[in-house]
Amino acid sequence: MKTIFVALIAGTLLGLLVIWLGLYNVAANDKHFSITSNLLQMVRERSIESRAAQLQVPDLNQVESIKEGAEHYAEMCTGCHLAPGMEETELYSGLYPQPPVFSSQDYNNSPQNQFWVIKNGLKMTGMPAWSPSHTDDQIWEMVAYLQIAKTLSAKDYQELSGASGDDLSHSHGDNDEYEENTVKPDVSNDGHQHSH
Ligand code: HEC
Repeated sequence: MKTIFVALIAGTLLGLLVIWLGLYNVAANDKHFSITSNLLQMVRERSIESRAAQLQVPDLNQVESIKEGAEHYAEMCTGCHLAPGMEETELYSGLYPQPPVFSSQDYNNSPQNQFWVIKNGLKMTGMPAWSPSHTDDQIWEMVAYLQIAKTLSAKDYQELSGASGDDLSHSHGDNDEYEENTVKPDVSNDGHQHSH
C-alpha cells in the first residue's frame, strides 16, 4: 500500500518536472507519435459522435441551400479546407492537425458530425466555432454544400459559389495584380450581398 502511494507521488512529481523543464515540444511542426495521434483521433471521434447523434438532419438537397452554403464556404473556409480546383494555401500546409479537404475523394463523414464541428469548433486545432456568428440554418446550408463538394469541377464550384478564378489561384505578394483587381469592376457580382 505504502509503495503504491510513494510510486504515485513520484510519478506525479516526475510529470510536473517534465512540464516545468519544458521537455514537451508544443510546436506544430513536431508531429505526434502515431499512438498519440490514434488516441487523439479516438477521443475526437467519440466526443463528436456522442454529441451529434441526436441531431435532426434537414433536407440537404435544396439547390438554394447548397448555393448559399457554397457562397459562405468560399468566403470563410477555403483558406484552410481548400476547394475544387484550388491550390494548397499556406494556412492549409502549416496547420497541424491538417484540415480535411472536403473535395477530396478520400473524405467522408456524416452530416450530423459535420454540423456539430462547424457549429462548435474543435479545441487546439485551429477549427473555429461558427455559432457565435451563424444561425443553425446557415450552418446546415454549409453542410449541404459539403455533401456535393466531391462531385464538383473547378468550374462548377466557381459558378455555384461565385468565387472568381483569382480567388482560387493562390498568388500573393504580386502587387500589380492586386492593384489591378481593386480597380477592376466585379462583373460576376449579381447584386447579392451577405452579412456575416
Ligand atoms: C483556420 C483554419 C480553419 C478554418 C478557417 C476552418 N476550418 Fe474547419 N477545420 C480546421 C481544422 C484544423 C480541423 C480539424 C482537423 C482535425 O481535427 O484533424 C477542421 C475540421 C473541420 C470539420 C470536421 C471534419 C471531419 O470530418 O472531421 C468540418 C466539417 C469543418 N472543419 C468545416 C469547416 C467550415 C464549413 C469552415 C468555414 C465556415 C471551416 N471549417 C473553417 C481548420 C479550419
